[in-house]
Amino acid sequence: MTQKQDGDPKSLSAEEAKAEFLALQERLRAADIAYHQEDAPVISDAEYDADKRRYAALVAAFPELEKDATQLNSVGAPAASGFGKVSHAVPMLSLGNAFEDEDVADFARSIRKYLGLSVQDPLAFTAEPKIDGLSLSLRYEDGVLVQAATRGDGSVGENVTENARTIADIPEQIAGAPRILEVRGEVYMSHDAFAALNQRQQERGGKVFANPRNAAAGSLRQLDAEITRSRPLQFFAYSWGELSEPLADAQIEAINRLRSLGFSTNPLTRLCSSLEEMIDHYRSIEAQRATLGYDIDGVVYKVNDLSLQGRLGFRSTTPRWAIAHKFPAELAWTRLEAIDIQVGRTGALSPVARLAPVTVGGVVVSNATLHNEDYIAGRDSKGAEIRGGKDIRVGDWVQIYRAGDVIPKVADVDLSKRPESAEPYSFPHVCPECQSPAIREEGDAVRRCSGGLICPAQAIEKLKHFVSRGAFDIEGLGNKQVEQFYADEWIREPGDIFTLRERFGSGLQQLKNREGWGEKSAANLFDAIDEKRTVPFAKFIFALGIRHVGEVAGKDLALHYGEWSALTSALDAARAAALAHRAADEAEDAERIAAEAEGRRARISETRAAAIKACGVPNEAQAAWDDLVGTDGVGPILALSLSDALANPEERAAIDRLADHLNIVPPDAPAAESPVSGKTVVFTGTLEQMTRAEAKARAEALGAKVSGSVSKKTDILVAGPGAGSKATKAAELGIKVLDEAGWLELIG
Ligand code: IVH
Repeated sequence: MTQKQDGDPKSLSAEEAKAEFLALQERLRAADIAYHQEDAPVISDAEYDADKRRYAALVAAFPELEKDATQLNSVGAPAASGFGKVSHAVPMLSLGNAFEDEDVADFARSIRKYLGLSVQDPLAFTAEPKIDGLSLSLRYEDGVLVQAATRGDGSVGENVTENARTIADIPEQIAGAPRILEVRGEVYMSHDAFAALNQRQQERGGKVFANPRNAAAGSLRQLDAEITRSRPLQFFAYSWGELSEPLADAQIEAINRLRSLGFSTNPLTRLCSSLEEMIDHYRSIEAQRATLGYDIDGVVYKVNDLSLQGRLGFRSTTPRWAIAHKFPAELAWTRLEAIDIQVGRTGALSPVARLAPVTVGGVVVSNATLHNEDYIAGRDSKGAEIRGGKDIRVGDWVQIYRAGDVIPKVADVDLSKRPESAEPYSFPHVCPECQSPAIREEGDAVRRCSGGLICPAQAIEKLKHFVSRGAFDIEGLGNKQVEQFYADEWIREPGDIFTLRERFGSGLQQLKNREGWGEKSAANLFDAIDEKRTVPFAKFIFALGIRHVGEVAGKDLALHYGEWSALTSALDAARAAALAHRAADEAEDAERIAAEAEGRRARISETRAAAIKACGVPNEAQAAWDDLVGTDGVGPILALSLSDALANPEERAAIDRLADHLNIVPPDAPAAESPVSGKTVVFTGTLEQMTRAEAKARAEALGAKVSGSVSKKTDILVAGPGAGSKATKAAELGIKVLDEAGWLELIG
């Protein structure tokens, strides 16, 4: 360092002070990173403290430096979770999977069917490697990189712009591009770079990564971009998001255009004009897999014609016009050392295989799932044999397989190596965590702990779910902290999270004295919790962790009921009908068994009707139930599970206590009203511009409900040539009838 290090700062000129300040700031920052994120200190504590004192003295003497003084109150390098959020203008989707060649043939067939193409009509696909990294969206405005975001949950990702700028494959500026261009692709790490990084990490005692994908993700998601710079990441462009004008007419041309703009694109991308060519290219890529120098886990096929891609559109999370053809799973044999039982959020007892560690496709595996008791016994859920009926025993040689991200599984057993002492596994009938009876209901593959919230395992798993990403996503409150706080009896149910500040905030003493907690991190946690007191209704429902009620159901229920009080009133009102529904299910089962024994046909609908009648369900209850199960995406199984959860007094009380701390925000009305939203539409006759499937998907995307038959509820009948009785009926009922052209005009 050339600047003066001691003496009275006031004797310095403003310029000298600034130079010394900047140099010190850089030194302190590097020291923080080395210490906190790399676990590899570069200066002694004494030097660090001296630097910090001098730095503070400079700021005190030259107050104009204060606004840039990032190191004044810093407590180490920030945790790598503080990225800003980015909403994706165009969602970042995932891909459907094909495993067999036949799945690819089905994919191509269904596209032809959807588009109304015959087998003779040409239909080309691109085929390219599926890179095993993490996806990244790069936004360019007027040719300048302005934002880089991870996929996140598909609609909101993390802002990693500064990190992305350090990747050599990602240009800062591009010429001749559309004014707005979002380039999407995969960040990955080569095998060589991965090996070198792990070597370095090991020498320094730093984190060793399990595989190149984790290394790439860990390296990109660093709060300090300088760390990212030191990690050799690469990027392949393969797709795009928002565009101010189209890139090209075809996928392959768009990829070529991205290449000419300066992006790396995968050299194994091919245009294929038949299924045979697609599969041939898949085999060729598979044969090159080991020598590519980076991980791939399959081949992605995409419809080449971009106007067809537009017509095909999307399902909820995947495009109809693309699919990933995965490589077969990787296999290995090892010894099963023990079977442990884990208890999940909904009480499910899940058997886990503890294995002698074995490398499967480059990853060391020591645990694998055994699914459920039938799987261990060599049966499927219907009682039919699997693995030729071979059961799995502790001590057995078992075959493990791993496919992509999926948890490893036990696929097979080698009976010739079974030790003589090996005993059939007996699945526990009591919960190993709380000793409550573990019950397996008829028709359910899973045995469940009946302890509810008194079972610590269930309570903890519920809490983990509550704070998880798709749910409340509270920064600083992850699985580890939940376990710690539960053990300390600080948090026993979700509502307790929101009284933490009240209970510990004043002194912070108890929390801050805990290992891993300081004053600052404790205060940050309380702030992060406060931030989540306002919560979208859909997230709130999902976060409750009720069996069968996932993220999509959360959204559907929130849209339908609008408010928490409306949902609870509806559930309370529907309770009698819910119980009648269960009674009808039970009566139906009994009738089936009786009918089989008596060799007659089961009288299902009469049985159900009689059972429901016997329950004497009030009309309002029936109406509330019908409305609930008629909600988009909600069926009787989900409805019953939701009803049970809310009718359980302890669970209800815990939810009420939670809701008291929250501001639950109703969902926005569905996106942009269209001329047909909320309308019921029926298609009949031959459509010429599109197939039925496409017409239905488009109408639904615009908020219409498509029905198969004309009734008083029908708003519009779209009648093509050859329309028959439906058109007559519509005319009788005075329903609006449009031809295909009229329909297309209406929906624009
Ligand atoms: S296309 C709308 N092409 O795979 C479709 N994805 O399983 C956008 N991926 O999230 C994806 N290589 O991270 C596409 N050549 C490739 C890919 C690829 C890897 C990843 C991507 C995506 C995931 C879906």
